[in-house]
Amino acid sequence: MKKPQHLVPDILRMRKRAGPIVALIVALAIVPLALAACGGGTSSDGASSSAKAGGDVEVFTWWAAGSEKLGLDALVGVFKTQHPDYTFVNGAVAGGAGSAAKDLLQSRLQAGDPPDTFQAHAGKELTDYIDAGQIEDISALYDEFKIRDVFPADLLDLLTVDGKIYSVPSNIHRANMVWANPSVLKAAGLDPKATYDSIDAWIPALDAVKAKGKTALSVATTWTQVNLLETVLISDLGTDGYIGLWDGSTDWKGADVTKALGHFEKLMSYTNKDRDGLDWPEATQMIIDGKAAFNVMGDWAVAAFEEQKQVAGKDFIYFPVPGTDGTFDFLADSFTLPVGAKNPDGAKAWLETVSSLEGQTAFNKAKGSIPARTDATPSDFSEYQQTAITSFGKDTIVPSLAHGAASSIAVLNAIADATSKFTTGASDLKTYQSELAAAVAL
Ligand code: GAL
Repeated sequence: MKKPQHLVPDILRMRKRAGPIVALIVALAIVPLALAACGGGTSSDGASSSAKAGGDVEVFTWWAAGSEKLGLDALVGVFKTQHPDYTFVNGAVAGGAGSAAKDLLQSRLQAGDPPDTFQAHAGKELTDYIDAGQIEDISALYDEFKIRDVFPADLLDLLTVDGKIYSVPSNIHRANMVWANPSVLKAAGLDPKATYDSIDAWIPALDAVKAKGKTALSVATTWTQVNLLETVLISDLGTDGYIGLWDGSTDWKGADVTKALGHFEKLMSYTNKDRDGLDWPEATQMIIDGKAAFNVMGDWAVAAFEEQKQVAGKDFIYFPVPGTDGTFDFLADSFTLPVGAKNPDGAKAWLETVSSLEGQTAFNKAKGSIPARTDATPSDFSEYQQTAITSFGKDTIVPSLAHGAASSIAVLNAIADATSKFTTGASDLKTYQSELAAAVAL
């Protein structure tokens, strides 16, 4: 069995190999070729021939509403075309980042009532399901679908334990982005083109917005606060220091973590007070509605702007969280075949659609992420997504905490609990820091 810390070096290796990904994307874009055939309308395996194929396929995600549902709908559209014999059943459970879905899923898995396939993040979160024996080795499907070579090798490593691959990646998201309303910035006397190279350099801008009576930084419920926290840790500790938080080489009790938590506390002081009752779409909506200036959120946010016909550069702007330019805070969604799935052939059909060029293109265009496949055509995607493709190719890749790449679900839950205590005033910074240190030791 792999040691837990194995996953972080894998992500670092991904960074080293990421350069060629862009070259490959560009090269293959010119020759749209046979690789797309794996998105064809064939059934997922020999057993699921037309005589046997069919039935309901329950797909469990947390893409229940808004722009996230539009992404799922786009994937379902391709599934219906590629596998018309199967019936998609939407098992989505609302709550950003799987905040409600993951607990419910675990109860179902433990009760022997799995969906036919479920969404899981590449990295430590997926390893939880593998270690618990809850998902099947699907390596054979990679040969059957001819997809061993269409994903970055290091992404596949994050889906693999002991040489067996356990899921199919649908996309790659970036979690360290700021989204901002240029009109609100101008009204506060700020230049929307200004860049900030550290959290400290950002504070005067937040003060300027606050002085105008607007929310300087919008945030929502606990998981979005953890998303903010991880970006502050990256900013203050640097990529090596941040990665060290997950492989044990950075001391959670150290002075640089104390400083980062101080910055986190300061940033939280600029946020909307109704945050704990909101999920990410409402916090991002505050930017669209001109009620807030800045929002730190993963790049699924861009899909919400686009859904509402907001134009990048005019209606909204974006930049990496101050102090994290050159770093790609990485996460990837992937789909599994649970042990005991009622319709494994249907699940395989779904996995084939997820893996296909057609499925990845349709899904990611709507979702704001970039395809996990390296042979997608960059010009199919939005301006923002093209910047993400470029960044993924040249930046340092680090694993997201809030989105399952860096830590197990148990560690993430403990960090979330400590964060909620801190941001609701139930603990002070010293207690928070010691609770974080205890959380990662779980
Ligand atoms: C992440 C997930 C993304 C997006 C986001 C907000 O965990 O990987 O695809 O859905 O949550 O819900």
